[in-house]
Amino acid sequence: MQKLIIANWKCNPTTLKVVQKMALELRKRIKKNPKIEIAVCPPFVYLSEVAKMFKGSSLRLGAQNCFWEERGAFTGEVSPLMLKNLGVKYVILGHSERIMMVGETNEMINKKVQTALRDGLFPVVCIGEDATERTEGKTFQILEQEFEQSLIMSKKIDWERVVLVYEPLWAISTSSHSLGDCTADDALTAALFLRKLVLNKAGQKAARNIKILYGGNVNAQNAEDYLLEDGIDGVLVGAASLDIKEFLAIC
Ligand code: 13P
Repeated sequence: MQKLIIANWKCNPTTLKVVQKMALELRKRIKKNPKIEIAVCPPFVYLSEVAKMFKGSSLRLGAQNCFWEERGAFTGEVSPLMLKNLGVKYVILGHSERIMMVGETNEMINKKVQTALRDGLFPVVCIGEDATERTEGKTFQILEQEFEQSLIMSKKIDWERVVLVYEPLWAISTSSHSLGDCTADDALTAALFLRKLVLNKAGQKAARNIKILYGGNVNAQNAEDYLLEDGIDGVLVGAASLDIKEFLAIC
């Protein structure tokens, strides 16, 4: 299966000039390769500029969030339809940073997944346990719960367009990182578990075709460990994607 590498720039960088430099470098250096697809998720305000810069290349664009309505009186929100019309393909939903900092709930995530799918985007849904849940041995329980609540409440899922990410909160580079890195073995175990959940809910075709990625301190030193696993279809990269040299090394 084609591997998918997604850069999540989070709330960086702070000027358009730097964005242009980063996007230009990626555009110059990343060549079409049937084995991998590369997507970049900049903050909303830079999307249209990056869309212009990526035009005609194999690079894909993603957003870091969206709302669950298409249009209307929703001050401050950005709709999936607006993103689609801008040339965005992916949208990250349910990121732990949004859950912790903005109070996003599984119900909200579920609604966002629905609208994103309806408007033709590919939702990249993050699922993962925190350090306490991990040490208490609740990893699978949490994965199943988040999977159920953020996806299964949905009436109709186009599984071909859903991307799942196992992103354990404790392994994110900017977290306290108290349990160290998530090894490729641990990431694979979680990815296989998520694939089994998809199998049980949606059948073999969905389980075979769905992309399940790993995210959490992926960098140039360890990316290959995750990407070489057959059961891991790609990586979601945070901090290391801001250093374009390092991101290119990962790709
Ligand atoms: P880091 O790669 O910085 O650990 O971030 C992971 C992440 O949150 C990607 O969405």
